[in-house]
Amino acid sequence: MTLTMAMPKGRIFEEAVQLLRSAGYDLPSSFEQSRKLIIDVPNESLRFILAKPMDVPTYVEHGVADVGVAGKDVMLEEKRDVHEVLDLNISACHLAVAALPTYQRGELNPKVASKYPNVASQFFKEQGEQVEIIKLNGSIELAPIMGLAGRIVDIVSTGQTLKENGLVELEQIRQITSRFIVNPASYRMRAGEIHDMVERLAAVIEGDGSEDH
Ligand code: PRP
Repeated sequence: MTLTMAMPKGRIFEEAVQLLRSAGYDLPSSFEQSRKLIIDVPNESLRFILAKPMDVPTYVEHGVADVGVAGKDVMLEEKRDVHEVLDLNISACHLAVAALPTYQRGELNPKVASKYPNVASQFFKEQGEQVEIIKLNGSIELAPIMGLAGRIVDIVSTGQTLKENGLVELEQIRQITSRFIVNPASYRMRAGEIHDMVERLAAVIEGDGSEDH
């Protein structure tokens, strides 16, 4: 029976495909170039659905996908009822607070722009700071430049976007990597297939780790 895997479109996708190939999955070479949103790989009994990263846990929670790949950032923001079974150790980045270099704590600008309103409000709550979260859907770095917010909470990967837009990181919130997630019912009903996949992926990840030492 075909196992359905939800994959995040965009920058995580290629790394996730690479990881699956390293784990021995025979995926067609046209895979990364395709604009299709559903890709069947019958020889592996796999069906891939390509969703927006933030939507992957939604597909998995509702069981239309059995498994999926989601960033820890998305998992923290969405809090979906799925099992997070493996740290895939790909697409490493971190969540951070950033602002213009002129921003000062005492400035009393409580506005924080973010694609991660839940993560951002939780972070500032823990810091004992009252803020007003402004939800944006992308290009978050625009907000402080245009005066929409004093600070942003966003993903920093290479740091290039902050640098090119003249922003500086104020605080690191946490490290982020991609996770392998599983629908709870699929985890019970299709335990054999899913464990096999997890073991194959884990073997590649552990192998990668040991090469570093
Ligand atoms: C992400 C993130 C930053 C950027 C960080 O945005 O929101 O803007 O990447 O990467 P860097 O540190 O390597 O420059 P993404 O490109 O996913 O698009 P978005 O602005 O639409 O969210």
